[in-house]
Amino acid sequence: MLLHGTEALKQAAAAGHALPGFVAYNLETVQGITAAAESAGRPVLIQAGAGPFKHAGREALMRLALDAAEDSAARLGVHLDHSRDLDEITACLEAGYTSVMVDGSHLPFAENVVLTKEAVRRARDHGAWVEAELGALPGDEDVSTDAVTKTATMTDPHQAAEFVAATGVDALAVAVGNVHGFTKDPVRLDLDRLAAIHAAVPVPLVLHGASGLPVEELHGALARGVAKVNVNAELRRAYLEAVHAILPAALPGSDVVSVWAAGRDAVRDAALEVIGRLIHRAEGGAV
Ligand code: 13P
Repeated sequence: MLLHGTEALKQAAAAGHALPGFVAYNLETVQGITAAAESAGRPVLIQAGAGPFKHAGREALMRLALDAAEDSAARLGVHLDHSRDLDEITACLEAGYTSVMVDGSHLPFAENVVLTKEAVRRARDHGAWVEAELGALPGDEDVSTDAVTKTATMTDPHQAAEFVAATGVDALAVAVGNVHGFTKDPVRLDLDRLAAIHAAVPVPLVLHGASGLPVEELHGALARGVAKVNVNAELRRAYLEAVHAILPAALPGSDVVSVWAAGRDAVRDAALEVIGRLIHRAEGGAV
């Protein structure tokens, strides 16, 4: 069923857990994420967004994700990840997306405020909630690369407070040392900065770039206001490793279905593993 509203996000924040946002590119990744949510019995966001639209086509992927969420017994939000384009945001809202991320992190502060405010206005008309980003992460959203493609700007706690008040966003993605994709060296988060942002803003925080993040860093983030965690590269890697493993057996019979099924099941298992990592009661409490 479609998961509407911010209640699940707020419940995750109150429990010291996080809602996973998993990036989906195609039928098998949508199916794998949906199966993980069903098996775990926990709310999940399918992030069928701007990057994957380039592969699958916007209409096709929007319908795929929305149909899967509507038909499932699990609570599944359908979320537009990383959009800079108000027309794209409107198209997803009109199709029935339950939330959108407007990404003005590349813009000067004042322009990010204007873009985000407009996205919030449009989302309200459709009963959807909005995530925005302040500060910028290094790394690429669709490919892990050692050659970092974007320079990082850490989120400033005072600016974050001003930004949330000025825009009315429901959730704020922050840059506190997190990186999109796998990295050569383990990532260390600036947890003091994160705590200061958490103290300064009244909305749940979002951590992008969680693939490969050491679990103590992740749990440190959950203890400091992060209530939504985005994961992509771990699912991509699981899919590719499963496909790689099964190819020798599949090739002689051109058995393409077994390859897709292996990728789908690997995404499900990787997503389930992440869901478990995000159920964490911070510092001494019970899970
Ligand atoms: P990773 O690829 O590092 O998991 O990041 C995913 C993400 O932040 C999508 O918005």
